[in-house]
Amino acid sequence: MTGLADIAAAGRRLLARSGATPPPVWDLRTDADTVTDDPLALHHAKHLTLMRAYQGRYILLPSAAPSGSMVERLRRHYDPVEMAHLESLRHGLETELSVPRATAARAATKGRDWEVYANALKADVRAQAENPFVAYLRESPQRDAHYRQFLLQSSADLLAEASASALGVVGEFGPAQSALFRILIDEFGYGTHVKKHSVLYRAVMRDFGLPEDYNACWPLFDTAALELHNAIHYLFQNPANFFLQVGFLLFAETAYQRSTQDHFRYLREFHPEADARYFGEHAHIDLHHTAMIIDEVAAPLVATYGADVGAEIVAGAEYTRAAFDRAGAHMLATAHAFDLAVAVGDATAAAPDLTNLGAAVTTAGAAALAPDERLQVGGLGTVAARAFPRFPTLAQARRATG
Ligand SMILES: [Fe+2]
Ligand SMILES: [Fe+2]
Repeated sequence: MTGLADIAAAGRRLLARSGATPPPVWDLRTDADTVTDDPLALHHAKHLTLMRAYQGRYILLPSAAPSGSMVERLRRHYDPVEMAHLESLRHGLETELSVPRATAARAATKGRDWEVYANALKADVRAQAENPFVAYLRESPQRDAHYRQFLLQSSADLLAEASASALGVVGEFGPAQSALFRILIDEFGYGTHVKKHSVLYRAVMRDFGLPEDYNACWPLFDTAALELHNAIHYLFQNPANFFLQVGFLLFAETAYQRSTQDHFRYLREFHPEADARYFGEHAHIDLHHTAMIIDEVAAPLVATYGADVGAEIVAGAEYTRAAFDRAGAHMLATAHAFDLAVAVGDATAAAPDLTNLGAAVTTAGAAALAPDERLQVGGLGTVAARAFPRFPTLAQARRATG
C-alpha cells in the first residue's frame, strides 16, 4: 500500500514542478506535501496524486502565454523524469483505490448476458423517476448553491470531457474502433470548437459564477469527486480494461440521456438565464450514442470474441453505475447537511473566492478548529467548523488565508 511518506514526497515533487503561481491547467499541487496521518486527508491526497498522474496524459495549454519561454515551460510541465516518478506510484494507487471495485463488479455480474442486460438498462433508465438530486433542488431554498456545487465537483472530468475515453479510441482494432471514433468526434463538437462538450460545460460554469479553466477549481474538489474522476480514468488509462471501457460507455451514455434531460428541464424552470445547451445537447445525442455502443461496438465485439467479453462489458457497466451512484448519494447527502447548517445559522451560501483558499480540512480535522471559524466547502459557501463534522465523510473544506 502507498504510504504517507510516498504521498508526501510525491507532493513535494509536484509542488516543485508546478512552480510559483502556475497557470490553472498546469497547477499540479496536491496538498500532499503537508498531509498528516488523518486517514481522510491521506485518502484525499492519494486520490489527488492519482488524478495528477492521469492529467499528465493530456495536452493542456494555458489560455494565455506564461512569462518566459512557452517551450521551456511546456518541457518542465511534461518533464519525462517527473512523469515517470509519478507513474511509478500509479499502479499501487489503482490497486488500492480502483481495482477492488472492478473485482466486486465482476463478481456481482458473473454469468449475465450482455444483451439482456443492455435492454433492461435502457428500459430501467427510461422508467426512472426524476434524478433525486434535481428533485431535491426543486424544494431547497439553497438551490443556487447546490447547483454551483454540482457543476464545480463535476468539472473535474467534464471540463476535459471525453479526453479519458479518447484513450480507448486510438490504436488499431477493427470496425468497433470506427464507431467509437464517431462518438468521440461528437464529444469534440464535430470539429467546431464552440460545440465541443467541454466548451458547452464551460458556458454553464460561467453562468453560475464559477471559473471556467480546466483544473482551476481543484482546491475545492471533494473526495467523492476525485473518486469518480479516478474511477473513470482507471478504466481508460489501462488498455487491459478495454471491454470494461465499453461497459462504461454503455452505462454512461444510457444514464446520461435521462439525467441530462432532468437537468435541462430543471435549469429551464429555475435558472432560465443560464446556458443549458450542455444538457439539452446530451439529452438528444446520447440516444444515438447508446444505440451506437450497443449495435456497432458491443454486439460485433461479443460476436467476434465470445461471451466472456460480454460479461466484461456488463461488469464495466455495473462498475460505472456503482461509481455514479456513490457520487450522486454523496452530492445529495452534502446538500442535506448544508441545508441543515444554514437552518441553524452555521452556513451561508456563497460563490468560492479562489484567491482566499488556505489549508485543506476534512470532516475529522474540523473538530480541532475554533468552532466559529468559517470554512469554504466546495462551491456551496462557508460553514462553521463546528458544523462541518456532520457533513458526509468524503466532503472537504478549506480554511481562508486571510
Ligand atoms: Fe458529451
Ligand atoms: Fe455521449
